[in-house]
Amino acid sequence: MASIPGNVLERGDATLHQRFRHDVLAGLAQERKAIPARWFYDRRGSELFEDITRLPEYYPTRAEMEILRRSSGDIAKAVGRGRTVIEFGAGSAAKTPLLLDAIDPAAYVAIDISGEFLRESCAALGERYPGLPILPVEADFTRAVDLPAAIAGRERLGFFPGSTIGNLAPDAAVDLLRAMRTTLGDGGMLLIGMDRIKAPEVLLAAYDDAAGVTAEFNLNLAHRINRELDGTIPVDSLRHRAVWNEERARIEMHLEARRDIAFQVGGRRFAMAAGETIHTENSHKYDDRSAATLLLASGWQPLQAYSDGEDRFMAVLAKAMALRITP
Ligand code: AVI
Repeated sequence: MASIPGNVLERGDATLHQRFRHDVLAGLAQERKAIPARWFYDRRGSELFEDITRLPEYYPTRAEMEILRRSSGDIAKAVGRGRTVIEFGAGSAAKTPLLLDAIDPAAYVAIDISGEFLRESCAALGERYPGLPILPVEADFTRAVDLPAAIAGRERLGFFPGSTIGNLAPDAAVDLLRAMRTTLGDGGMLLIGMDRIKAPEVLLAAYDDAAGVTAEFNLNLAHRINRELDGTIPVDSLRHRAVWNEERARIEMHLEARRDIAFQVGGRRFAMAAGETIHTENSHKYDDRSAATLLLASGWQPLQAYSDGEDRFMAVLAKAMALRITP
């Protein structure tokens, strides 16, 4: 999955542990409690997210794969042959081959902060594409990344599937897309998955499924806090809530207190009144206009939005805009 760096605590990684602790303590101390969504993805959280992608209600993964299948010819035509694919995040076994098969790249680079996921996914792709140079880069792609010398001078196609961009606040999304623009360079292109605004019932079902997997995914964050930060959160007293925020065009996930509760995390005391929530995720949805506005603000000229048969999701192809105006 193309997750935002900072997610997975590897054994002995003091810096990530400190960042997790900092984000949780600061987030719980706010008047409106909130914890960044990137902390969902410990091992258990990543497994639960994989389960989510297979749920009948969670359409984005299937819709994006449908797009990659049905529009692969058009995407290949627009992109041309021989580009190097730069995937932001460890490649997905399901989606990455659909793109690689379509455009027959000169090389494939995956950038991920978690070396473990990166090595696993690159090894799997290496078996499938024995002749393709596959170059894992362990780095934080929210900043500009120096790419391997082996692909210097080659034209690049960035790939950022999954609508992970929607999990960022608009200003952070712009920062990330600008960093990608710098990484991919002049002449670079980007294929980015973006989930479309649609009927609230469809969105709410996708984020509050009947089997309760998304609820478990959300509640796992509280379990993780208890496990890793000496927390005493009474997880059974929290409930998962998904809310459609019409004004901001986003699904919000919250953990809501079923009753008044008090607990400790990292030696500090916190309390929640019945009905109070911890805001755990935003998942922004886009229409053609808001998608184009975000890309243009970040140095990307949208060329084409490819959609699935039911117009639920889009994969937008964009090209790097010139950064300097010549006199
Ligand atoms: C990873 N990200 C794009 C997912 C989404 O749809 O926003 C995370 C997710 N949260 C609940 N379900 C899925």
